[in-house]
Amino acid sequence: MILNRRTFLAALAATAAYRPADAAATPNLGSLAEQHGLLFGSAFDREIFTDASYRALIKSSCRIGSVENSFKIDWLRRNGITADFRITDRLVQFANSAKIALRGTALVWNDWPPTWLKSLSAREVAAALDRHVGETIGRYAGRMQGWGVVNEPFYPPHRQTGGYRKGPWLEAMGPSYIPRAFKVAAAADPQAKLVLNEAFCEQDDELGRSVRPRLLKLVAELKHSGVKLDAVGFQAHLKPHLPYNDQAFATFLGQIAALDVDIYITEFDVDDEGMPDDIAKRDRLVADRCEKFLRTILTIPRVKVLICWHLSDRYSWYKDADWYARAISENGGDPTRKVRTHLTDGELRPKLAWDAVARAIEARSEH
Ligand code: XIL
Repeated sequence: MILNRRTFLAALAATAAYRPADAAATPNLGSLAEQHGLLFGSAFDREIFTDASYRALIKSSCRIGSVENSFKIDWLRRNGITADFRITDRLVQFANSAKIALRGTALVWNDWPPTWLKSLSAREVAAALDRHVGETIGRYAGRMQGWGVVNEPFYPPHRQTGGYRKGPWLEAMGPSYIPRAFKVAAAADPQAKLVLNEAFCEQDDELGRSVRPRLLKLVAELKHSGVKLDAVGFQAHLKPHLPYNDQAFATFLGQIAALDVDIYITEFDVDDEGMPDDIAKRDRLVADRCEKFLRTILTIPRVKVLICWHLSDRYSWYKDADWYARAISENGGDPTRKVRTHLTDGELRPKLAWDAVARAIEARSEH
């Protein structure tokens, strides 16, 4: 079908998926969230050095930011234990001058270990953990809001005792790598908020339900043993094609909060793989999912932080994930279609999800 300008504009108006307004003209999610006791922000990384319009969007919308990749050991210490801090220095500098509270993420994660780490002895792996956590956090002490110290401790399908995620840290130290990382982190910057981050818990499938009790037990153990743990982070890569039960998840968050930790939503976005190709339909479904989820969980006062895993489809991590394109094909969708997983589109135009998030944040004080 060939669209002339009039029919094109009419089609846009009908879908309401596109608006010419830029993000600055729509509710400012950062300041709106602040009025409701919530720090709102996004992940970003080195693209902000070259992409001026995205940098402006991040600056205007975010009170908090997470570094997407650059603090991960396979990025910061690519070829060995010696770090190259050039990028992270610039990211911290950017956030400090933009007055965005910055978090480093996934310092210790059993996924994606660099090759060099896998060839070390157990004793050397333990020393690498101390160095990576201690040196990195120490370098930026006083300039960071906090750290995702340990990422994704559990993955029961790996069939390790206790349901832990397999990888070099677990192999070298068993689950003791977790309190160890937090102790080193606390010593390196006593003011920083230290976070244990986990995936899947918002899913009501077998995986999500198997991770929840294990995480609850781990948080209780860490707190009872006096480890400095300020918050538990939940990724919330929402997957509407899998079973979910927001109320059950909120109940679980209440149990976690009762252990005297804050709750951060750390990687918020919506996987649209199971949705129809039609953009208007997809945008509506994504927005609805965002709104229902957030309306339910933002009723919990200890939910203090909401971070999107990027603010735009332009930097959606789904685009690079091979499993994502495969899943779309398996669902009979067009594997070349554009992702609609984030709050603004590839042109940084706010989508329905932007307003849906704003409504959910506004509803928070009603509870
Ligand atoms: C992802 C990044 O977004 C990608 O750029 C990278 O290639 C792989 O990691 N859960 C996490 C994040 O904890 O660290 C992941 O980030 C997304 C899933």
